[in-house]
Amino acid sequence: MSAKSVSGKVTVVGAGFYGSTTALRLAEYNIFETVVLTDILEGKPEGLALDMNQSRSIEGFETKIIGATTTADGAGYEATANSDVVVITAGLPRKPGMSRMDLIGVNAGIVRGVAENIAKHSPNAVIIVVSNPLDEMTALTQLATNFPKNRVMGQAGMLDTARFTNFVAEKLGVAVGSVKTLTLGSHGDTMVPVPSRCTVDGKPLSDLLSQTEIDELVDRTRNGGAEVVALLKTGSAYYAPSAAAARMAKAVIEDSGAVMPVCAWVDGEYGISGVYLGVEAEIGRSGVKKVVETKLTDSELAGLKEAAEAVRAKQADVQTL
Ligand code: 2OP
Repeated sequence: MSAKSVSGKVTVVGAGFYGSTTALRLAEYNIFETVVLTDILEGKPEGLALDMNQSRSIEGFETKIIGATTTADGAGYEATANSDVVVITAGLPRKPGMSRMDLIGVNAGIVRGVAENIAKHSPNAVIIVVSNPLDEMTALTQLATNFPKNRVMGQAGMLDTARFTNFVAEKLGVAVGSVKTLTLGSHGDTMVPVPSRCTVDGKPLSDLLSQTEIDELVDRTRNGGAEVVALLKTGSAYYAPSAAAARMAKAVIEDSGAVMPVCAWVDGEYGISGVYLGVEAEIGRSGVKKVVETKLTDSELAGLKEAAEAVRAKQADVQTL
């Protein structure tokens, strides 16, 4: 096999299931020169990196994975220096019965420390936050790094949309590839499904399912993370979440301009300003190149505005955390 040209550096902070799966997906894309995986658990990122590197000749990718143990006071972050993209997965996952918001106190401290160290070592990076509660941790990362808002975004909409798509495909017994769905708003209670943008083979979802059936699938999507947590009993979902985060990082390094639902800074779009919120955006080398407004029905727009106010209140709180 001839070596493909690979370039750029991505760091994944946190070597739990979410982080390590994201790192492996990114390496297997074979587009980055280096994937750095960090954790505060001594030896864990190094061990995982060694194991992943040993899979390279089997899976046929050249990307080198580097594991680095870091400490809260910043030791070890030299390995992440000058990353083009950083995915922050650090923090605790939910336990059964917990809401994402229950994590805000403990994860704010962890994410703030990580963000400060990343800003010091990779001042030009695009940051993708996945730690929960997602919308608040994204806002906090921007505050802690003082990066331009377009260079900090959160992963949620890709995941929520993928869950919704999967539920629709299963319900109708059709290929997932024939289903298109969209969710906006927050990664939580004020997630806003956009039925007007949901289709199966181009046909409106409302032609194929009753309103009650659609509502049930929306509800299951809204609780999609909790459903997995309840089954796993320890830890939370990571296969679908890591797929979503890795695709966002790929869009950044390839400057693809792909339009994805992400948590992005909204500044006037939809008549909403000054808040990190789930919207569709064009993703590229500068992070969020632009928020893409889609046509919403009156009730969808009302739902998005309600979500904006709910997360705005919580995002104001993170300044002091
Ligand atoms: C989820 O929804 C981890 O928040 C993530 O599964």
